[in-house]
Amino acid sequence: MIGAHVFIDRIGKAYGSQTAVGGVTLDIPAGEFLSILGPSGSGKTTLLTMIAGFESPSAGRLVIGGRDVTAISPDRRNIGMVFQRYALFPHLTVAENIAFPLRMRGIRKNLRAERVGRTLDLVQLPDYAMRYPHELSGGQQQRVAVARAIVFEPPVLLMDEPLGALDKKLRETMQIEIKQLQQRLGATVIYVTHDQEEALTMSDRIAVMAKGKIAQLGTPADIYRNPQSAFVADFIGKMNFLTGEFLGGAAGTHSIKLGDDVVVQAPGSVPGFETAARVGDRVRLALRPERLGLTARGAGGKNALPGRIETSVFAGSFDLHLVRTDFGSREIIQVQIPADRMNAPFAKGAPVDVVAEQGGLRLFADAEV
Ligand SMILES: Nc1ncnc2c1ncn2[C@@H]1O[C@H](COP(=O)(O)OP(=O)(O)OP(=O)(O)O)[C@@H](O)[C@H]1O
Ligand SMILES: [Mg+2]
Repeated sequence: MIGAHVFIDRIGKAYGSQTAVGGVTLDIPAGEFLSILGPSGSGKTTLLTMIAGFESPSAGRLVIGGRDVTAISPDRRNIGMVFQRYALFPHLTVAENIAFPLRMRGIRKNLRAERVGRTLDLVQLPDYAMRYPHELSGGQQQRVAVARAIVFEPPVLLMDEPLGALDKKLRETMQIEIKQLQQRLGATVIYVTHDQEEALTMSDRIAVMAKGKIAQLGTPADIYRNPQSAFVADFIGKMNFLTGEFLGGAAGTHSIKLGDDVVVQAPGSVPGFETAARVGDRVRLALRPERLGLTARGAGGKNALPGRIETSVFAGSFDLHLVRTDFGSREIIQVQIPADRMNAPFAKGAPVDVVAEQGGLRLFADAEV
């Protein structure tokens, strides 16, 4: 199997007056693992079903492997698809389920058996051929669904929240398995999820969707470090937001007043922020919990945010401190500190300074969340 280039060209879908997908363009190189990440109702499934051919777009076109397939029926697009719920045929055995796409393609029986055997090995279920779906665990059923999607060696594989119904541990195991499988097969994978951790670990690139459009497209590291809007910043990873007043400043570093004696400096996150923001505007300051530190009150230096420890909890690899600010609307800031990093833990109610690392603060126009 070798992946195909997928070009989604201004694809749109309207249901009556409602726009489910509003002109999405994605250029996906052969063999890429692209995740589509977005909240419920953002148009992920609609986009995927248009690529598969089960829905026809109201606008735009779709080119796979250099061939315009916009008007081609699903069975002639040669795309594998895994749905959120397993969608196995309950009355067919595992082997028969996996053989189904091969039968549809008129592949001879002995060749079918060989391919099914090989694919069962690939998804690590060699001894399950004769079982029925109800005799399998959720994770095993999902692996059968993956096997059925890849058995005919499609150059493009679409997955719509394939692990959504599984528990966390199994989901993480399956994430690694699917990723390894994709690398071995070389297929182009378009993977829908609303789980940002899943998208971050599995993808070459992530397309964040909001309201039927791509809010941001980039590598996981890029999206995580340089969110271009408060929406993306909020959606990917954990993020604290504080509201303040824009006091102006030189390019790259702006002053934001958060409270009577609390003024911090932060770079604008979005290109053009400098020209768009006006002195006196309400702006939103974003702070990643893992890029914050804690000191005793008064020791925080520049960009110190005074507050009091409300709760501290042990969370395995890190400690999570909730700090209630002593300024503004007294919001809670989450501070995440690697376990055992802090020599003297602060007591509940202790006055502290929350300190942002260099580059740990980002600034957005208020209207964006
Ligand atoms: N057949 C349909 N008829 C009318 N509206 C639809 C239809 N299918 C989807 N929609 C609407 O289109 C929008 C996008 O739906 P879609 O299923 O693509 O979202 P999604 O991102 O997959 O959400 P989820 O994470 O909940 O699966 C929603 O507002 C939905 O109500
Ligand atoms: Mg969906």
